[in-house]
Amino acid sequence: MATIKVADDEGETITFIEVDGKRFPNFNISAARGIPDFKPRNDDVFLIAYPKSGSHWIWEVCRMLFAGSTDLDVIAKESSMLELTSHDLIDQQTSPRILNTHLRLYEMPKDFQTLQNKIIYLRRNLKDVAVSFFNHTKKFKNNYQYNGTWSSYLKMIIEGKVDYGSWFDYVKHWEEVIETHPDLQILDLTFEDIKENPTKEIKKIAEFLEVPYNETLIDEINHQCSFKNMKARKGLLMPTEDGESVIYRKGDVGDWMNWFTVAQDEWFNSVYQDKMAGSKLKFKYTI
Ligand code: A3P
Repeated sequence: MATIKVADDEGETITFIEVDGKRFPNFNISAARGIPDFKPRNDDVFLIAYPKSGSHWIWEVCRMLFAGSTDLDVIAKESSMLELTSHDLIDQQTSPRILNTHLRLYEMPKDFQTLQNKIIYLRRNLKDVAVSFFNHTKKFKNNYQYNGTWSSYLKMIIEGKVDYGSWFDYVKHWEEVIETHPDLQILDLTFEDIKENPTKEIKKIAEFLEVPYNETLIDEINHQCSFKNMKARKGLLMPTEDGESVIYRKGDVGDWMNWFTVAQDEWFNSVYQDKMAGSKLKFKYTI
């Protein structure tokens, strides 16, 4: 485990932690090494996503669905994250647990495939992910220590030089897993579909989790998990040094239009076509 500084095209560096050649954020990720030996339980559900795809949102929806109630303690998603929380603490949590990670299938706990745990796989269009990740990286100043610009960061993320690596490799990896592993129970969701029709997607999650629900519960969960309500309830669980909410920034589809120049958009679209050749994945950029 080593702290590394990676320079962008203007020489500004981002600080990461490298574990076995993989780039992690500069947080306390000492649990990451032990992930292969982590012992899942049969009823653990894994929420898996590339960073900034909406994990905080959907983790909270799942907790409420499992509880059959919106009246829950205010707990950070990070408390169930395999890279960030000591596995001794995760072991103490009562079932059913919603564990979350940004890893790939081959990096998951060794027992995972035998147990056939359910996976909720969440994805989001890369233009909005890039904007969200840039803001996240800049705002956690003490961690990433990054003074770079949007245009330089955009190149870093497209080149896969950021924490957790390439978005392209990540989504193509999980696309292949879904195609080639009919044995795994995977619910494939997108941030954009949930934003467009939240109650429909929350019901889909309820069916997948096989929990009892009715319209009132779904409406109440949708209300409590709206961007505004989650920001009010959980916004300061992971604040910046300035006391600002980093995770709950805008919560929109299409904020990328406020960031991308025409030239950046054209460049992005051509790189995207090239890198996603052969993929059947579709993403919405506006709703
Ligand atoms: P933005 O930075 O575009 O606002 P993650 O949870 O994977 O870290 O993703 C964070 C992104 O999800 C942020 O995107 C955040 O605002 C958005 N988000 C968090 N909670 C949300 C909610 N309840 N509804 C919509 N978006 C939400």
